[in-house]
Amino acid sequence: MESSEALVPEAAAPSKPKEPKRPESFLLIYNVSKKQNFGTLLRSACAFGVSEVLVVGAKKISTFGNQGTAAHANVRHFDTLQAAKDDLRSRGAQICGIEIDDTAQPVTSHPFGGSTAFMLGNEGEGMSTAQKEVCDSFVYIPQFTGATASLNVAIAGSIVLHHFATWAGMQEHPRSGEKFVVEAPRGTLEKFQNPTEAEREEMERKRAERAAKRRKEQEPEEAETGDGDSEP
Ligand SMILES: C[S@@+](CC[C@H](N)C(=O)[O-])C[C@H]1O[C@@H](n2cnc3c(N)ncnc32)[C@H](O)[C@@H]1O
Repeated sequence: MESSEALVPEAAAPSKPKEPKRPESFLLIYNVSKKQNFGTLLRSACAFGVSEVLVVGAKKISTFGNQGTAAHANVRHFDTLQAAKDDLRSRGAQICGIEIDDTAQPVTSHPFGGSTAFMLGNEGEGMSTAQKEVCDSFVYIPQFTGATASLNVAIAGSIVLHHFATWAGMQEHPRSGEKFVVEAPRGTLEKFQNPTEAEREEMERKRAERAAKRRKEQEPEEAETGDGDSEP
C-alpha cells in the first residue's frame, strides 16, 4: 500500500513556513547640532546593524568622525518629522524617543515590541515638544551617580542601539585579532546600477532637488528678458 505522503499531489504539498522577519532598527536624526555627534552616531548605527538613518530637515549633514562607516550607511532625507513617521509606519516601525522622560522605561528592561526607529534630543535643549509628539514610546538609560545630569547624545544613542541589537538577536559579526572584520561597502556604480529601495528614493530626491535648483537659477534671467507678468 502507498503511504499517505505519496498520495498528496505535488501542488498541495505543504510549503515551508516562512522565516519570521527580524525586527529592524532605524535611527531618526532631527536637530542633533554637532557634526562630531552625528558622525559618532553614524559609526555606532553601522556597527549595531541599523537598517537606515532618516535625516529630517537638514539637506546635507556632516559625517565628521564616522571613521569610514558613512559609505556603509543607508541615509535618507525627509522634509518633516511627519513624513518620516509616515514612511516608518508603512514599514511597520514605531518611533521610540531616547530621553529622560517621566514616561520612559529603562532600556535595560528591553521594552521593545518590533521594528523601532530611535530618536534623540538636541545637545543643549533635549527633545522638543514636536519631537515628543511623534514618539510612540520612550526609553532612558539608568545612571548610577549624581555626577552628571545626562550623557553625551552620541553615547546615549549608541547604548540604546546596542541594547536593541541584543534584544533583536542580531548575529555577532566575525572578528580577526583585535578587530571586527571590515567589509568593502557597496560601490557607487553598484548602487547606481542595482539600487536598494532606499537608494532609489534618495537618487530621485537628489534629482528633483537639482532640477528645482536649475529652475531657480533660470528665474532671474527670465525676469530680465521680460518673460514675467509685468506690463510693458
Ligand atoms: C546632553 S542631553 C540634553 C540634556 C538637556 N540639556 C536637558 O537637560 O534637557 C542630549 C540628549 O541625549 C540623550 N540622553 C542623554 N542622557 C540620557 C539618558 N541617561 N537617558 C536617555 N537619554 C539620554 C537624550 O536624547 C537627550 O536629549
